[in-house]
Amino acid sequence: MELKDLLLNLRIVMFGGKGGVGKTSCAASSAIWAAEHGRNTLIISTDPAHSLGDSLGVELAPGIPTPIEHIDNLTALEINPKANIAEFKGLTEINPMEEMGMGDMLEGMPMLGDLEDLTSMNPPGIDEAIAFAKILEFIETEHDYDLIIFDTAPTGHTLRFLGLPETLSGWIGKLIKMRLRIGKMFGAIKRMFTREEKKPDNSLEVLERLKQSIINARDDLTNPIKNSFIIVMIPEEMAIFETGRLLNELIKYEIPVSNIIVNQLYQDNTELCAFCKSRREMQHRNLNKITEIFEKKLHKILIQVPLFREEVREYDKLKEMAEYLIK
Ligand SMILES: Nc1ncnc2c1ncn2[C@@H]1O[C@H](COP(=O)(O)OP(=O)(O)O)[C@@H](O)[C@H]1O
Ligand SMILES: [Mg+2]
Repeated sequence: MELKDLLLNLRIVMFGGKGGVGKTSCAASSAIWAAEHGRNTLIISTDPAHSLGDSLGVELAPGIPTPIEHIDNLTALEINPKANIAEFKGLTEINPMEEMGMGDMLEGMPMLGDLEDLTSMNPPGIDEAIAFAKILEFIETEHDYDLIIFDTAPTGHTLRFLGLPETLSGWIGKLIKMRLRIGKMFGAIKRMFTREEKKPDNSLEVLERLKQSIINARDDLTNPIKNSFIIVMIPEEMAIFETGRLLNELIKYEIPVSNIIVNQLYQDNTELCAFCKSRREMQHRNLNKITEIFEKKLHKILIQVPLFREEVREYDKLKEMAEYLIK
């Protein structure tokens, strides 16, 4: 499906690719186009280094969905990474061995040490975990939006979380759950003798709920009539490798990809200086490779977007970009 049809028909469209290639610009531009074509659209930035508000030219308070003035049907949200760490408390506060006064036992036991890393979802990885949790939340919760556009959707790192249900069903998952149950049991015994207040420990439930919501969300994310992932790239050799890897990850998790945006293309123009001419030739070579690999071999639709003279931001520029995105 062409990007236009995706924006008119799907429930979720995700923009991803490496930093600085133009994800936010393309996502914001597409969101404006969709909103102006009658779809009640929410655009969400999950990137901790937000630039969605800057791109749209509006102030966005962290974590608060904000209707965009003068554009009907468009709401924008930058998630607040700090506030959401609290949501992971249920998972991060557990340490049954410590609770049992057996924390020392963890030392010298590499396998349990690894489990520690798995059960306490502390940094590194917390940004991706939060981004992922937000994506789950918005897919799972009832809302009035026709279309949700994610800016900086899952990269390979975030997508790992889609594999969590299998991990939890596998032996590592069984060990994690066993540990949580043992922790609970010993907590209860300890309380019997010490008459301590019962601390609510719902880690196991949190984990189960997380697993179930991932399973549900996966149904939506892997359904090509509900979701599509748009890769944004620039015509450089390194970007080709990186896009190949991202595409592999997306295939692994069965996330539909039909469009790849090749952004920031120098246009054929006799006025170009020697420097720009040489850059244009470099881009041209890479564009040929991109066509060969992603269009001819992998049957993706390539969308070419020129390098504009000015920054692409605020309404007029974003609309200009949309003309190239929607052809
Ligand atoms: N086609 C383009 N022509 C000119 N400038 C662009 C183009 N695409 C993006 N930019 C500019 O490049 C910068 C990075 O774009 P952005 O969309 O924020 O990238 P990302 O979200 O991938 O980090 C911004 O200043 C944006 O205005
Ligand atoms: Mg961005």
